[in-house]
Amino acid sequence: MGRYNLRMAASLQLLNVKAVKPFHTVSWRRSTPPLRCSVAPPPSTSHRSYTITLLPGDGIGPEVVSVAKDVLTLAGSLEGIKYDFKEMLIGGAALDTAGVPLPDETLSVAKESDAVLLGAIGGYKWDQNEKRLKPETGLLQLRQGLTVFANLRPATVFPQLVDASPLKKEIVEGVDIMVVRELTGGIYFGFPRGYGVNQHGERIGYNTEVYSALEVDRIAEVAFKIAQKRGGKLCSVDKANVLEASMFWRKRVLEKAKEYPDVELSHMYVDNASMQLIRYPKQFDTIVTNNIFGDILSDEASMITGSIGMLPSASLGNSGPGLFEPIHGSAPDIAGQDKANPCATVLSAAMLLRYGLGEDKAAERIDKAVEDTLNRGFRTADIYSTGTNQKLVGCKQLGEEILKSVESNVLAGAV
Ligand SMILES: NC(=O)c1ccc[n+]([C@@H]2O[C@H](COP(=O)([O-])OP(=O)(O)OC[C@H]3O[C@@H](n4cnc5c(N)ncnc54)[C@H](O)[C@@H]3O)[C@@H](O)[C@H]2O)c1
Repeated sequence: MGRYNLRMAASLQLLNVKAVKPFHTVSWRRSTPPLRCSVAPPPSTSHRSYTITLLPGDGIGPEVVSVAKDVLTLAGSLEGIKYDFKEMLIGGAALDTAGVPLPDETLSVAKESDAVLLGAIGGYKWDQNEKRLKPETGLLQLRQGLTVFANLRPATVFPQLVDASPLKKEIVEGVDIMVVRELTGGIYFGFPRGYGVNQHGERIGYNTEVYSALEVDRIAEVAFKIAQKRGGKLCSVDKANVLEASMFWRKRVLEKAKEYPDVELSHMYVDNASMQLIRYPKQFDTIVTNNIFGDILSDEASMITGSIGMLPSASLGNSGPGLFEPIHGSAPDIAGQDKANPCATVLSAAMLLRYGLGEDKAAERIDKAVEDTLNRGFRTADIYSTGTNQKLVGCKQLGEEILKSVESNVLAGAV
């Protein structure tokens, strides 16, 4: 299992999720009480069956979800797992068919399932729609509907892809950051919001950055526990020199820190954090931040790793199914051209197995298969380096190679 997965596994174990084994530098000084969640109890050895809601969405979403579904099915079947896949509409696809970005049926099926795998939403076609009819609104409604407040976004440099990073090798080698982003509060959801007229009679648009104590406390708790199981360092990113909501955030994080004396807490303003991520990313272990800063910083961190096409994410709440999705969007510029990198979605499927269903072995089969495929030199364009003996392939072929790796790992007895 790769370093990234060890880290993720270790991190999420504190969330009452089964981890495979702890990362070697992790300190297990004390056990933490389970925090959540939607994760099923450890699977029995008999045949297991799960309902998975698939939300392919728009753009490259259907292409990458199709690959992930095949990989999930094969890796699962090797572990005696059966799935009942429910494919539902979301985003632009739902707008075109049902007139809303998140049909009620999609949300109720998702809530009833064991886990949700999403591709991506959005596209030029719907960009000019009014807010309530934007694909992005459907995704925000889904996250709210599933009450997944903690978004875990790892940014880990795969050793095979060090050269794909736009940054110098010595800067990116060994980068392993976990961004813990608050997902259901802040300016994306705050009121008042809207359009109006200011005191000078000028038309304005406005939003509200607002956090309650409960919202900050619970995300800080997740982040401290994750940091505790990783390198023991947590950096809280805010804009407390300007924003009251950030001053409040910092105060609550400092309060929560008293419960975690073994975690080294630091604070950084978001503008500095965005600079430091490029200057010296290895200084970061775990980052906790609000919804909008997390949105931006995790995308920035993803570029350090080489491609947004490699990074999965998990969104977890206190109960109910988790939401697993690549961090990239619908990539309309390459949609329908078989150019998308499916790895982020395939790795999201592995996270779904591990953290959503407690099916560590099947998850490990997928993680190993992705690494094996990279080791065999197969690359989509976003991670391809010219002048090497790498093999440039499309989304479908990379998916087929991952499936071959799942199978060959069985023959080699690697899992
Ligand atoms: N979670 C989501 O569904 C989500 C997230 C971000 C953006 N979006 C939506 O996606 C649309 C496009 O947004 P954007 O261009 O800002 O972000 P994007 O992530 O879709 O694309 C950014 C760049 O990365 C490339 N890229 C993304 N995923 C890739 C993959 N798997 N393989 C290879 N290259 C990949 C794209 O081709 C593009 O050049 C917008 O409508 C936006 O609202 C959706």
